[in-house]
Amino acid sequence: MKGVILAGGLGSRLAPLTRVTNKHLLPVYNKPMIYYPIECLVNAGIEEIMVVTGGNDAGDFLRLLGNGKQFGLQDLHYTYQEGEGGIADALRLAEHFADGDKIVVVLGDNIIEKNIQRAVGEFFAQRSGAKVLLKEVPDPERFGVAELEGNRITGIEEKPKHPKSNLAVIGIYMYDRQVFDIIRPLTPSERGELEITDVNNAYIKQGSMTYDVLDGWWTDAGTFESLDKAWRLVASGGANKLEEPALAGAKTKQRISGE
Ligand code: DAU
Repeated sequence: MKGVILAGGLGSRLAPLTRVTNKHLLPVYNKPMIYYPIECLVNAGIEEIMVVTGGNDAGDFLRLLGNGKQFGLQDLHYTYQEGEGGIADALRLAEHFADGDKIVVVLGDNIIEKNIQRAVGEFFAQRSGAKVLLKEVPDPERFGVAELEGNRITGIEEKPKHPKSNLAVIGIYMYDRQVFDIIRPLTPSERGELEITDVNNAYIKQGSMTYDVLDGWWTDAGTFESLDKAWRLVASGGANKLEEPALAGAKTKQRISGE
């Protein structure tokens, strides 16, 4: 399985911070924002990663990330999205890189507390189709919102005025090779973008979409409010945490022996 990080777009909701730099190079506590999605994929055991950049200063990604050595990677792949055609438009550019493999896509401004190992393992075993991750939020109207029936996902609405649930579809998506065929005929939404929600609904219509509910906190960092929230969450306990077997074992021992 390969990983794709989408870090294009113009970040206009964070202007003027994004006037001279790309949103994903801004700091979130002690690291540039783009570090978090890379660590998320590396923690899930994904070693081949492409970063889709955009904007005026794409060379800065190369300067910051180089060949990915600081993340334990052999190398990093890059491509460039012109304009701000939407998340599905950015993903389109990874078709050659994916080369028929399954992919895990992470939006460059999404940060999680823990890890996606379980979901990635499940998707590895899933024969075909797609998988999304959901998280309960207090403000679902800001996101793609999932509708569930029993344990089936029956539809996703992008930023609905009247959300049918409080389950946001977070910006971590898993797709099989069909995803690029699904993107090809898409047309831009009212906001002028190729929407990832249209891609996900195509898989739902096919009956090949599964979901998992994420453990731990999740946030995006694309507005002043969410950037501030992300900063505070990371500062107060860190992100991309792995369950350390040694630590978990010690805790169990402590509980059992009452130490
Ligand atoms: O954060 C999760 C949400 O992300 C989902 O719940 C929504 O369904 C999904 O549409 C998306 O919503 P946003 O409107 O918040 O996405 P935004 O435009 O902020 O883009 C998120 C990231 O996607 C951004 O950090 C970089 C990448 N992107 C975005 C656009 C528009 C690109 O690479 N290229 C683009 O053209």
